[in-house]
Order: sequence, then structure tokens, then C-alpha cells
Amino acid sequence: MAKLYINEKNKKGHINSEIYGHFSEHLGRCIYEGLYVGEDSDIPNTHGMRNDVVAALKEMEIPVLRWPGGCFADEYHWKDGIGPKEKRKKMINTHWGGVVEDNSFGTHEFFELCEQLGCKTYINGNVGSGTVQEMSEWVEYMTFEGVSPMAELRKKNGHEKPWKIDFFGVGNENWGCGGNMTPEYYANLYRRYQTYVRVYNPDKPIFKICGGPNVADYTWTGDVLKTAFYNVPGEAHGLMDGLSLHYYVHPEGWELKGSATEFDKKVWYKTLAKAKYIEELIQKHGTIMDVYDPEKKIGLIVDEWGTWFTCEPGTNPGFLYQQNTMRDALVAGVTLDIFNRHCDRVKMANIAQLVNVLQSVILTEGPRMLLTPTYHVFHMYKHHQDAELLDSCLDGAETIGEEEDYMVPNLSESVSLGKDGMITITLNNLSAEAASDMDIAFAQLKPAEVKASILTQEMHAHNTFQDPEKVKEQEFTAFTTDAEGIHCVIPPCSVLSFRVKA
Ligand code: AHR
Repeated sequence: MAKLYINEKNKKGHINSEIYGHFSEHLGRCIYEGLYVGEDSDIPNTHGMRNDVVAALKEMEIPVLRWPGGCFADEYHWKDGIGPKEKRKKMINTHWGGVVEDNSFGTHEFFELCEQLGCKTYINGNVGSGTVQEMSEWVEYMTFEGVSPMAELRKKNGHEKPWKIDFFGVGNENWGCGGNMTPEYYANLYRRYQTYVRVYNPDKPIFKICGGPNVADYTWTGDVLKTAFYNVPGEAHGLMDGLSLHYYVHPEGWELKGSATEFDKKVWYKTLAKAKYIEELIQKHGTIMDVYDPEKKIGLIVDEWGTWFTCEPGTNPGFLYQQNTMRDALVAGVTLDIFNRHCDRVKMANIAQLVNVLQSVILTEGPRMLLTPTYHVFHMYKHHQDAELLDSCLDGAETIGEEEDYMVPNLSESVSLGKDGMITITLNNLSAEAASDMDIAFAQLKPAEVKASILTQEMHAHNTFQDPEKVKEQEFTAFTTDAEGIHCVIPPCSVLSFRVKA
């Protein structure tokens, strides 16, 4: 029997909506086919954006979208993607599958997409192969309101008013595909490039993100902060507002990765243990950040995370297309619980990637679309967005697993209070086979109005175009309430969400 204690009177921090953010790169079928099909497509679209995908993402309440990469960002030259489409440069996407990139999706299309989605914008600039002038002109093109060469160019291309950049990344993985730089070298470039990410309208500040570490590269974090962290007296955040972190879960390591759909229980637990490892990364990188920024003014921005398996057999290996099972759902659930619990430092996170690439929430095949188990988790967790984290403590969790190095607690949770006065409790049962009895107790609240939904199936279950609704969120009624709280049995391999009127 496990017991979850919730002190609904003790608010621990604010959960930024952007923790539930997403990432779309010019990679495989994410942008082209997945999101953008062009105005002339037979697939129903609005200004080229798929209506079915946009509607599903709005329902999921996507808060922010990162674009154009990834590794692609440090090879992207934004001027190739503006102006009449027939005149846009065609190029080979050397990073991802060697296919022709016709640049028909560019700056205007990205802002159109975000407008349709009603989400914030996160642009990733090019430091690896781009100039300071190129980056500075892009920001001018997107955001300058008055008379200037780039503002004129934007107007000539049909957009009179400037857009709003909410987040701007100064390079991507500059320790690797973004230029193979040393931390000191990148940090100096960061200082220089970010200077020209000008905020032309003080009412529309741009949140600047410095390129952070890969996984456990604590040296990168320390060395970059040593050079690039600079707290300007009187200014809230100095030269940066955020530092990124990238972490992918490969059950069999970077080389082998492992199948997305064929795995045994040993690999199930190994995958979940590797997902839980992100908590250690947040704590350790966070401790280094605390040295420079004890007030936690800058955010840890986990702008790439999720599972990365061996690509689906028979597909282009450069397209990173993979299926999505209940295992992905649990990875998403435990990771989002961790982000919620560390919302004092984690200010944004962007799962990789939105459609048809890595741990996607949506898969498409021609005109068809399906929602993955990961989609349903984001849908169930959406109530945590912009809510206050509540104090909670889980007692009685068991340690489970099949290998000493990859043991996990059988349960994971996070609890928040929304602006609508509802408490959201999310719970994951990581066990592949055992149900868990659960009591939920509050400090004072006697729960009266309670609703719940659940995602549960056997561990390999996934949605296919033949059976697109095998795994889906369902109403959960197998619980009781009394003066002591809520009582239920959480089925194995499940993600559960309670909504309780406070
Ligand atoms: O998400 C796929 C790739 O993973 C991104 O392009 C890159 O930033 C990371 O290595």
C-alpha cells in the first residue's frame, strides 16, 4: 500500500506552461508532411498547415514551439526561406537523410503555424555556420517595427507588422553538430552574438538561451557560465535568461539504441531508469548554476528530451521515425513529474520532436494521423501548465526492476493547483505487471468533486494506422472518496490523472 500526502496549503513554485513545450526541426517528416503540406495539397489545410494536426495540438494546449533545429539550425540561413516560394533556394539537408530542402517552410510559415496553434515562439539561431550580421538581421526582420532595411524586406514579403519572438536560442549543441567548439570559445561567441539579439520593443522582451551541456557534461556548464554568465547590475538576467540541456533516453546506448516496439521487461525498466536519470542531471547542473545564480534567475531549458530508439525498419535512417508505446507514455509521465517538481529551475522543456520524429505526439501517413501514447500523457498533464506546484510526499513506493543498475521506484507523482481552483494529481505506475494500492490524503481538504482519467495497456501497446485508438485516455472511475481522501488501485503500466476541486 502506498500513500500520497498532499499539503494543499503549501505552494512550492510556479510550473511554467513552457515545461510542456515542443520541438520541430527540418528533419524527416516533421515539418514537411507532418505539419506543413502546402496550400495546394489535397490534405485539408489552412495556409499550408494540416488542419487535423493543428486541431489536435491545440486540444493538447501546446504552449511553445522550437524551430528550425536542432543541428539543422546551425546550417540554416534564414534568407533562403523568405520571399516567393518558387525562387527560394533548394539545398540538400546533409544532416538528415540527404533529401532536398526547398525552403518552402520558412520564417513566415513558422509564425503562421504558431499563430494557428496559439503558442509561443522559440527561434534557434545559427552560430555554427552563420555570422553575427545574419543573426542580427533575422531578429530585425522578425521584430523591428519602424523603418529599417529588414523591416522593409519583411513588409515587401507580405507581413506589415513585426512578430514576437518569445525565446531565442543562440546556437544549438555547439559542443557537437553546432561547430565542435570548446566551452570557452562558445561562451565568448555567445557573449558576442547575443549582444545583437536586440530587443526593439521593451514590451516584447526576448528570452535569450545560451547553449548548454550534453547530458552529464558538467565541465561545459561550469566553463560556459564562468565566461558567459554576467549579471548586469540593475538588470534581471544579465546576458542570458536560460541555459539549455539536452538528454535523450537510448535503452541500449547511443550506438545500438534499441527497438521502439520490441523489448522485454529488463529493457522496460532500464529505459525507465534512464528516463529518471534526468533528475540527477537537473540537480547537478542546477547546483553548478546555483554557484553563479543562487537566486535562480536563469532557467534550465531542457529543449531536447525524450526517447531515441532505432528507427522504424524500412524507413530512411536519417528521418528518425519511430513508433511510440506505453513505454514512451511512462517516460513522458515520469519526466514531466520531475520537471514539475524542479520548476524552480526548469523553466522550459521541449520534447523531441512534435510529429513523425523521435518521441512524437503525432504520427502521420499521407492524409491520416494518429495520436501516440505520449500525446495522451501531454493531454492529461496539460492542467499542470501555469499552475502552482503543491507539496507532496509519496510513502511506501517499492523499488522494482530486473538489474541492479536499473532499479526504479514503482510510482511517480506530481501535484499542482491550477488557477481554476482544481488540484491536478498525476501518478505513474512503472511496474509492468503489478497493480498498486494507493491512498491519497490531504492536509485539510475533504475531496468531494473528483474526476480522473487513465492511460493503461500492456507495455508494448501502441497505436497504428490499422488500429489508431488501441491506446487512449479513458475516464477512470475505480476510486472511492471519504473524509480520509481518495482510495484506488493503480493498474500496472499506467498513467493516471486526478482532478480534485480544492
Ligand atoms: O533531435 C534530433 C537531434 O538531436 C537534434 O537535431 C540535435 O540537436 C540533437 O543531437
